[in-house]
Amino acid sequence: MRIDILTVVPNLLESPFSDSIIQRAQDNGVVEICVHDIRDWSQDKHKKVDDEPFGGIAGMVMTIQPILDAVNALRSERTYSEIIYLTPDGEPLKQARVNQLSISGNVMMICGHYKGIDERLRQHVITLELSIGDYVLSGGELAAAVLTDAIVRILPGAIGDEQSALTDSFQDDLLAPPIYTRPANYNGWEVPEILRSGDHAAIEKWMEQQAYDRTKSRRPDLLQKDS
Ligand code: ADE
Repeated sequence: MRIDILTVVPNLLESPFSDSIIQRAQDNGVVEICVHDIRDWSQDKHKKVDDEPFGGIAGMVMTIQPILDAVNALRSERTYSEIIYLTPDGEPLKQARVNQLSISGNVMMICGHYKGIDERLRQHVITLELSIGDYVLSGGELAAAVLTDAIVRILPGAIGDEQSALTDSFQDDLLAPPIYTRPANYNGWEVPEILRSGDHAAIEKWMEQQAYDRTKSRRPDLLQKDS
């Protein structure tokens, strides 16, 4: 899978992908992540990528030309299942969408800056708009990093223990149950007895109940789904 990210601040996306699981996934050929500076495609002599909005509104808007040329250059080299725009008014990102994107083929992500991109790009070029939450970031870069991380960590070969990603919170619309490690007693703070019993069936049942109870108290909305 290849992920191309278009931004005017490529430096912001250097460190999120250069450590831990995401770096290892790139080293192992599980994913190729390419960050592009939109300015490289600007035909303006000062490499300008933004302009004033029509209508006398304050702020700046990212212009069509550099973004469209960048998208077309990349599209001429390979196919993309989605061209994603990260924006607070997009579809709220959920694990189901992450799962679907992780098996969809190459994806391109466009990070907005200033007041965002010209609406005509959203109408004619963007195929999917995603928001990572009901708050406004100063640009789409951190949202693109979040989306990329969520996709890459579930790609086969990214996490050593394949089972681990399947037991995450949200994979089955339940939050993950509590988890403990040694020592079994830390100055009087005890690990639940059942986890030390060696009775795997009882442990599994306990974990399922804990996941359900935790979801019911913290995120009852997750239990109300139709599917
Ligand atoms: N860009 C700015 N805020 C954002 C958000 N909440 N989600 C996705 N992209 C954004």
